[in-house]
Amino acid sequence: MRQNIEKIKREAEERIDKAQNEKDLKELQIKFLGRRQGEITQILRNMKNLPFEDRPIIGKLINELKEEIEKKLREKRNEIIKEEGKEGEESIDITLPGKRIPLGRLHPITQTIEEIKRIFIGLGFQIVRGPELETEYYNFEALNMPRYHPARDEQDSFYINDTHLLRTQTSPVQIRVMEKKGPPIRIIAPGKCYRRDAIDASHFPMFHQVEGLAVDENVTFSDLKGSLAYFVHQMFGKDTRLRFRPSFFPFTEPSAEVDISCIMCKGKGCRVCSGKGWLEILGAGMVDPEVFKNVNYDTEKYQGFAFGMGVERICMLKYGIDDIRLLFQNDLRFLKQF
Ligand code: DAH
Repeated sequence: MRQNIEKIKREAEERIDKAQNEKDLKELQIKFLGRRQGEITQILRNMKNLPFEDRPIIGKLINELKEEIEKKLREKRNEIIKEEGKEGEESIDITLPGKRIPLGRLHPITQTIEEIKRIFIGLGFQIVRGPELETEYYNFEALNMPRYHPARDEQDSFYINDTHLLRTQTSPVQIRVMEKKGPPIRIIAPGKCYRRDAIDASHFPMFHQVEGLAVDENVTFSDLKGSLAYFVHQMFGKDTRLRFRPSFFPFTEPSAEVDISCIMCKGKGCRVCSGKGWLEILGAGMVDPEVFKNVNYDTEKYQGFAFGMGVERICMLKYGIDDIRLLFQNDLRFLKQF
């Protein structure tokens, strides 16, 4: 009997050791532990043939054998599960290149507008918008550019009919804002403008401007300078210098054009600044009282400053783009760089 138990034990150990998978284990479990025909059940059945006093000892051995086999089966099962898990991991080849998921991004012009907005919002300006289809009144007359004003020819416009045109500048938004509410005003107005320009490296018939307007009591040219200096330093870096050149715009008096020290050569003179060391980036000035009269503002009480900048120009300078057409050809090889 004892030998028999020993033999079963050795056989079970051997065969469990060789088991390859769950199915093998299941079979072995039935073979050894099965309730009807299992080896252990069969030994138990023979117990009745043993002398009475041997039974407890043999019974104990059989119980130990049963526990032993159960333990072996458990251990082997865990081993097999682990192995399978490992194989599962190995079937994912982590050295394969990942799938490239094409990701959209904002157009550089949009990014530039967002940046300009962010800077002026920081100075307390609000964002407003006006229509791209304007009347002559808002686009010209209210801005102190009457019908035969020379500046009106300069801006070759797209007329829709006798009175409506695609706006040539964002300045008409100034008028629309001031008609709606009184001072204090601090707004910037980004948007598209249109002019009948022949296309070349620096001209495109559709482009973007950002208009700025601040009106209050005691607004001075210093406020204009301070605001624009802050903008330029944020946009192009702290060491960028500014230069205000006297100029003319019908809706501002005095008027200035603002240059920045060339961001390529830092003012030494290079191809980008045509050797001048300076780059023009915007027009600005103190709001002409004639404009205030058109919106019934008290010209004795209020002053204002205004400015207008071309977004394409700022974008091209910031990113070193040398041809405006690149911005509108929608070539993904170009756009993906931003
Ligand atoms: N509207 C002008 C243009 O299109 C730019 C400009 C100049 C706007 C001076 C202003 C300003 O508000 O004060 O060229």
